[in-house]
Amino acid sequence: MKKFWDERYAEEAYVYGEKPNAFFKEQLDALNPGKILLPADGEGRNGVYAAEEGWEVSAFDISHTGKEKADQLAEKKGVQINYKVGSLEDQYYEAESFDVIALIFAHFPPHLKQDYHQQFVDLLKPGGILIFEAFSKDHLAYSAKNPKVGGPKNRDILYDTDELENYFSTLEKHTLIQTEVELSEGAYHQGTGSAVRFVGVK
Ligand SMILES: C[S@@+](CC[C@H](N)C(=O)[O-])C[C@H]1O[C@@H](n2cnc3c(N)ncnc32)[C@H](O)[C@@H]1O
Repeated sequence: MKKFWDERYAEEAYVYGEKPNAFFKEQLDALNPGKILLPADGEGRNGVYAAEEGWEVSAFDISHTGKEKADQLAEKKGVQINYKVGSLEDQYYEAESFDVIALIFAHFPPHLKQDYHQQFVDLLKPGGILIFEAFSKDHLAYSAKNPKVGGPKNRDILYDTDELENYFSTLEKHTLIQTEVELSEGAYHQGTGSAVRFVGVK
């Protein structure tokens, strides 16, 4: 997995572009800046956007090349992000220390999903907000028709609304929906896909 992402991010271009994900931007723009965690932040498009908007940004990802490009993007935009290489078990974050945790196309190995999402809830402050967008299990039919839309090919890595209902059952639910999305994010998210979105408050 790490090798796959290191190789993909070794391309010169930002594979999902330099602009933030549209759903993340829409949600974040409605909030006052505070402390945000971006797990699996890839090349940093979302973390850097948050920093530009005045957020104190922590991020992590298993990819070294992802971090290099995230740091380059942050430098280009004149902001700082605290981006660590590794998975969640390699990090130390204080419990209840983040105002927002944003999971954007954070497709984790199936055996880690339940535990990771519970830990993300634990890391949110009371009143903190969880923002989530990722490909749904139905996305497989979309990527079979149009490979340019990207997304994992393993059904167990994809999400459905029941799963999110379970992971985030202790949060007050504001949004939980499976929806078609029109993606235009770099070379690897192009076209119509199926996503699951969640927004909730601790
Ligand atoms: C589809 S990319 C999304 C990147 C970024 N969130 C974005 O929207 O541009 C998925 C990311 O998950 C990361 N990843 C996969 N498994 C991980 C894990 N166990 N811990 C941290 N990051 C992981 C990969 O390295 C990759 O950067």
